[in-house]
Amino acid sequence: MSRDLMSLPRPDGITALREMSLDRLGFLQRCNQQYEGIVPLQLGDELVCVLNDPGYITEVLKRPRVFIKDKETQALDGLVGKGLVTSEGDFWARQRRLAQPIFRQKNIDAYANVMVEYTQRMLESWQDGAIRDVSTDMMRLALDIVMKTLLGQEVQDVAAQRINNVLEIFQDWLDHNSAVAVAATLAEIGEQQAQISVASSESIDKEYQDAIALFDETVYDIINYRRANGLTGNDLLGLLMQVEDADDGTRMTDQQLRDESATFIMAGHETTANLLSWTWMLLAQNPQVRERLNTELKTVLNGRPPTVADLPQLTYADWVLKESLRLYPPAFEFAREAAEDYELDGYIIPKGTTVIGSQWSMHRNPRYFNEPETFQPERWANDLEKQLPRGVYFPFNDGPRFCIGKNFAMMEALLLLATISQQFQLDLVPNQIIEPRTSIALKPKYGIKVVLKANS
Ligand code: HEM
Repeated sequence: MSRDLMSLPRPDGITALREMSLDRLGFLQRCNQQYEGIVPLQLGDELVCVLNDPGYITEVLKRPRVFIKDKETQALDGLVGKGLVTSEGDFWARQRRLAQPIFRQKNIDAYANVMVEYTQRMLESWQDGAIRDVSTDMMRLALDIVMKTLLGQEVQDVAAQRINNVLEIFQDWLDHNSAVAVAATLAEIGEQQAQISVASSESIDKEYQDAIALFDETVYDIINYRRANGLTGNDLLGLLMQVEDADDGTRMTDQQLRDESATFIMAGHETTANLLSWTWMLLAQNPQVRERLNTELKTVLNGRPPTVADLPQLTYADWVLKESLRLYPPAFEFAREAAEDYELDGYIIPKGTTVIGSQWSMHRNPRYFNEPETFQPERWANDLEKQLPRGVYFPFNDGPRFCIGKNFAMMEALLLLATISQQFQLDLVPNQIIEPRTSIALKPKYGIKVVLKANS
């Protein structure tokens, strides 16, 4: 016998929608602390189920053919087309299979040198006493690294500008569209105060289309250059250019190459950059942690640049990153749409329902973490990660569609953290507002301004 979903305790739709649009993280966390299991929210015509049970989260992530990407994720296809993040079903499975070999540990180990070299190059422009927005620096560095390692390209300033620009405009466009959707739903359920201006939709759409056109040009330039020079190379783009379909011997079209390249540019730099930016903030706020990290770096590296061989010894640095991913997960929630009716622990989730799970709220749940709001890398000692129930800590998601770049990202973050920390201490400029923005990734809304102090 199935159980009645709508009999479950929940906030009313209008309150939930308002809270979600004003303070998404706060809403997710309150929802997680007040309600267990499934929280069904009727938002106008739409049913949204927030999952607060780690078992339910795991079950949904395990079944990507039933729980497909939600409409908002699908909207990413304007930017990344039918790439790995946005595609579904057999097409996705094929692309995943093709890309997978590039991310085997042995292959990504070969990228360590580029990661350290590019960091050192960035550090040459850093000066003692200078004030910098570290999130801008981390974005550029992570972009340079992903472009070089996966697409075999040095990034020119113009291209970097276009990529950052398209990301910014895209996020504004998404935020604008969701504000319009919220206003429409509130109006539909009779909320009069929900007037928001939609007059600017046209100009935002135009700005977005223009930015995409420039971004496209940049990506096609890369592909054309590679084709013209016969450079197949040992990177992701080279591999994808060489792959032949087993059935008919065809190769990937330029459109497919464009979509995958755009996907890896987008998925592969902002997330890692945000992880590092939040980590610099947390280290500056917790000097005793920073001290312990520096002691480990001194003991293991004694001032020389890190290599892949050093990584297993950098255990405290690894806990620092795990703890930063717990408190400020760049992927702070996932959303899926039920492609068919599905019975979840006796509750029927109707086809078309949006299902949401949140790293932000699970990672801060006091049931699983002592003093969940404090930054304590030591909590990761004794293999805490393995002891937690599945679905509690999942910064890279879980199931068949978990992040293909997880090892790449963790290796990059460790190498950058070690290389930079050895040369500079980053202190926060006082009295600045640091606040997360919940767009595609959790990023510092106004950046993170730091004062650099060169280590003597
Ligand atoms: C700290 C850094 C990163 C975090 C927190 C992160 C997180 C995630 C998460 C949560 C997903 C699943 C999204 C979903 O299915 O809804 C994902 C997917 C993905 N990530 Fe990452 N990611 C990071 C870095 C990277 C890097 C460095 C790359 C590439 C080099 C990458 C490439 C991808 C791709 C292609 C997918 C789609 C996989 C698929 O659906 O098969 N990510 N990532």
